[in-house]
Amino acid sequence: MDNNKLLAQEIAKIAEVASYLWQRGWAEYNGGNISVNVTESLSEEERKVEAIGDKVTLPTILEELKGSIFYVTGTGKRMRYVAQSPWENGALIRISECGDYFEVIYKNCIKPTSELPSHLSMHNYLKSIGRDCKVVLHTHPTDLVALTHSKQWLDSEAITNMLWSMIPECRIITPRGVGIVPYQIPGTMALANATIEQLAKHDVVFWEKHGILATGRDVVDCFDVIDTLSKSAQIYINAKMAGFEPEGMCKKDLDDLVPAFGLEKYYNEN
Ligand code: 13P
Ligand code: ZN
Repeated sequence: MDNNKLLAQEIAKIAEVASYLWQRGWAEYNGGNISVNVTESLSEEERKVEAIGDKVTLPTILEELKGSIFYVTGTGKRMRYVAQSPWENGALIRISECGDYFEVIYKNCIKPTSELPSHLSMHNYLKSIGRDCKVVLHTHPTDLVALTHSKQWLDSEAITNMLWSMIPECRIITPRGVGIVPYQIPGTMALANATIEQLAKHDVVFWEKHGILATGRDVVDCFDVIDTLSKSAQIYINAKMAGFEPEGMCKKDLDDLVPAFGLEKYYNEN
């Protein structure tokens, strides 16, 4: 595994994103966590290496993830150190062939993020509906979390339309809009299940008074999605701080983006 170039590329991207999360001020202390399905980057032999950690029972059977291997950040680890030393602040875990437990297989025996059961159930769900998702990225962007402190924005349609209307790129980059999950205790299956409900319709979910979760094929793309939403939030908040209500793009301008950027496929899904 030490000489696996494909895996090294995946880990380098995770470290790059971890450094952005810290630089952006979205990752205070141990805030945020990342899981990436790296199974395809490993050979048959590498997938079968002996475990270095104990078997940890999962709360539900993960039918879609049997034998899959994930890089996951460790619980209590700081993103600024994940950026510097991804293998000292995260590990590879393997889901059992029956989907009922996981074990650490490489490189150090680190305890995975407290959000692991929820990350894994999201990966499992997204695979079951055929969505091409390899990454779950959770972080604490100040501006987006601030919006979730207002009842006005705890409504998926209202916050999506407001954020979309700040800059055209926002709708192009988050065509499915954002889902909202009312406050739940971090790391619980209640939070995971409420998130999964929102992921049926969205790629990005806001957790009230806590953080944001993005899913997708590539960890850099997941960062870019949150970064674009954050830009929209900053424009909105800056305008309000300057003492005026931002006008926002009108419905027609937003709707014209659909044919112009081929977004129809996202609206004809179900
Ligand atoms: P972990 O350190 O367990 O990953 O938790 C961080 C976090 O943001 C919980 O929501
Ligand atoms: Zn969090």
